Amino acid sequence: MHYPHEVIHDIRTLNDIVDVISSYGVQLRLQGGRHFGLCPFHSEKSASFCVNGEEQMFYCFGCHAGGNVITFVMRHENMDFLDALKLLADRVHYNLPDAKSSTGAKIRARERERTAELNKQAARFYYEQLQQDSTEAELARSYLMDRGVHISLQKRFGLGLAPPGWDNLIAHISAPGSELATAGLAAQSQKNQSRYYDRFRRRLMFPIIESTGRIVGFGGRALPGGDDGEAKYINSPDTPLFNKSRQLYGLNIARKSRANEMIIVEGYMDVLALHQVGFTNTVGVLGTALTAEHVRLLKRASINTVTLLLDSDEAGTRAAEKAIPELLSGGLSVKVLQFSPETGAKDPDEYIQLNGRDKFSRLLTAAKSHVAFKVGLLKHRYALDSESETNQRIRFTEEAASLLTSLTSAIETDAYAQEIADISGITTSAILAEVQKQRAQQIKSQDGQTLIIPTSNRQRVRTSAEEKGLKEARKRLMNLLFTYPVTASALAKSEYLSPEEMCDETYSQLLVLAFANAQSKRHMPPADIIAHFEILEDQQKVAEIFAGETLYKSDIDMEKALNEMAFIIKRAWFTNEMDVLMQKNDLNAVNNLFLSKRNLSSLYITMGDG
Ligand code: GTP
Ligand code: MN
Repeated sequence: MHYPHEVIHDIRTLNDIVDVISSYGVQLRLQGGRHFGLCPFHSEKSASFCVNGEEQMFYCFGCHAGGNVITFVMRHENMDFLDALKLLADRVHYNLPDAKSSTGAKIRARERERTAELNKQAARFYYEQLQQDSTEAELARSYLMDRGVHISLQKRFGLGLAPPGWDNLIAHISAPGSELATAGLAAQSQKNQSRYYDRFRRRLMFPIIESTGRIVGFGGRALPGGDDGEAKYINSPDTPLFNKSRQLYGLNIARKSRANEMIIVEGYMDVLALHQVGFTNTVGVLGTALTAEHVRLLKRASINTVTLLLDSDEAGTRAAEKAIPELLSGGLSVKVLQFSPETGAKDPDEYIQLNGRDKFSRLLTAAKSHVAFKVGLLKHRYALDSESETNQRIRFTEEAASLLTSLTSAIETDAYAQEIADISGITTSAILAEVQKQRAQQIKSQDGQTLIIPTSNRQRVRTSAEEKGLKEARKRLMNLLFTYPVTASALAKSEYLSPEEMCDETYSQLLVLAFANAQSKRHMPPADIIAHFEILEDQQKVAEIFAGETLYKSDIDMEKALNEMAFIIKRAWFTNEMDVLMQKNDLNAVNNLFLSKRNLSSLYITMGDG
C-alpha cells in the first residue's frame, strides 16, 4: 500500500459513488432508498445494478460485480488501484501527496515520465511522416492499403513511418541523445560513443499504447524493398517503461469492446486485420511467449475466455503449449485455433485476405477447447492409423486421458473421452476409468514432485457441496464480524480461529482487519474495508460479503451463527491440514491433529460482555 488509509478514505468519501457512476452515463433510478440501473459491466435488459448511496457501494445482482467507488473506476477504466485513486483525486481537486518512495524509485519514476514524453513526441513525428508527400510515405500508405489497413484504422492505431536516414528523429526532437537512448528511440554508436543514431529507420511504426493512453514503446516493420539482411520487425528494447513480455499490442483499443472474451494473435498485422473486419477484441503478443504478466493484464480487463489464433508453423504450436498452462493457471478458459496448410493460410491476416470475414468468423466459432487441441497434437505425434501397434494406441490413450484429468465438467470429460475413443479404438468407458484412476493418483501423489496438481484440482478434493458451504460460511462470518464488532471480540478472545485457518488469502487479511477493528472498537463501513484491497478480485470478494443483509433476532441467534460458521471453517481447515500431513507421511502430526479435532465440536465461543 503506497498511501496511508486516511488519504484513501478521504478521496473515497469526497467522491460520492452515485455522482461518479452517473457521470459514466449509467442512468440510475431511486427505488426504496437505493439506486438501480442497467449494469455497465454486462449486457442486460432489466436493471439489476444497484448503488447504495448510504453505504457508498455498488453491486450487480446479475453479474456480481461489486465494490466501492474506487472499484467502480478500476473496472470501468480498466485501471489499477493507484491510477483509479489518482483519477478520483483529480476529480475533486484533491492534492494527492507523492506516494512514499525512495530516491531510487523517484529517479526511475522521472525516467519513466521522460520516456513517455519522448515516446509521445516520437509517435507524433512518425505519424506526420506517414502523411507526407515523400516517396517513402507514399510507398508505406499504398503498402498499408494493399494489406487492407484502411485510413480510419491507421488513425485509430496511430500508425506512423520512420523515414530512411540515420538521424531524422534525433534532429526533430530536442533532447540529448542519451535520453533518446534511454527511451529506446536512439542507439549509441559503437565507434564514437558521443554519437547516437535513430533506432527505427525506413519502417512502418506501430506505437504500443497502454490503456491510460501512455505510449510505452514501438514496433517497426521493414517496408518492402529494403536491405536483405534487415529484421522484418524490431521492437523497442527494454526501457524504464517497456518490456515486450509485459505488453499486449492493441489492448488499449481491444478493452473498449468490453467483451469478456479476447482473441490473441501472434503479429501486429494480424491484430490490424482482425480489427479491420470488426473483431475489435483482439490483441497481439510482441513476438514473445505468453507470460503470467500478460495473463494479469487480461484478468484486469475482465477477460474470462481466450481464443489463441496461432500461425501454422511449429513455433505457433510451441507457443500454444506454453501459453495454455499459463492461461489456465490464471483461471481463464482457453480455445485454440491453429492455421494449417488445410486452411490455406499461414496466419489469421492471410486467411481473412483470402477468404473474407464471414468464413473467418465461422472458423473462429469452430475453435476448439485447449483439450481438443492437445489431443490433436498427440494424435499427430503418435501418427495413429488402422495399422498402428496396439502398444502405440494404448500409450496414446493413456496420455490423452491425462489431459482430461484437469477438466471440471463431467459433460466435457465425456465428450472428449468419446473423441479419444474414436481415434484410438479403445472404448469410452475404459478411457473414463483411466481418467478416474489418474485423478485418484494425482490426489494421493506427493507435493509437486511426481505430478503437478493445479490448485483448482487440489481444492476439488472437497465435494462441491462442501466447498459451497465453506464459501458461504466465510462470507456470513465476515459479514457478522464487521457488522457486529462484539462478535469479532468474542472470536478473537476464544482463539478459536486464526487468520491462516481461513484457507484463503483475502479472508485471512479480512480476519486480521476484523480483529484489529474489534480491539480499537471501531466500526468500519464496507466501503472502507474494500479500500484495503488493491486488486479487483479481492474487492469483488469483499463486496459480495456485504451484498446480502443478515438480520439476527437476538444475541443468542448471533452467537449460534458465529459458532456454526467458525466451526465449518475450522473443520475445512482441519481436513485440508490432515491431507497435507498425510501426504508428507508425518504420522505423529496427523495423530496430534486428530486428537485436537475431537475437541473441536465441544468448544463454544460465548459472547460475554467483553
Ligand atoms: P507480416 O509479414 O507483416 O504479415 O507480419 P506477421 O505479423 O505475420 O509476422 P510474422 O508471422 O512473421 O511474425 C509474428 C510476429 O513475430 C511479428 O508481428 C513480430 O512481433 C515478431 N517478429 C517477426 N519477425 C521478427 C523479427 O525479425 N524480429 C523480431 N524481433 N520480431 C519479429
Ligand atoms: Mn502475416
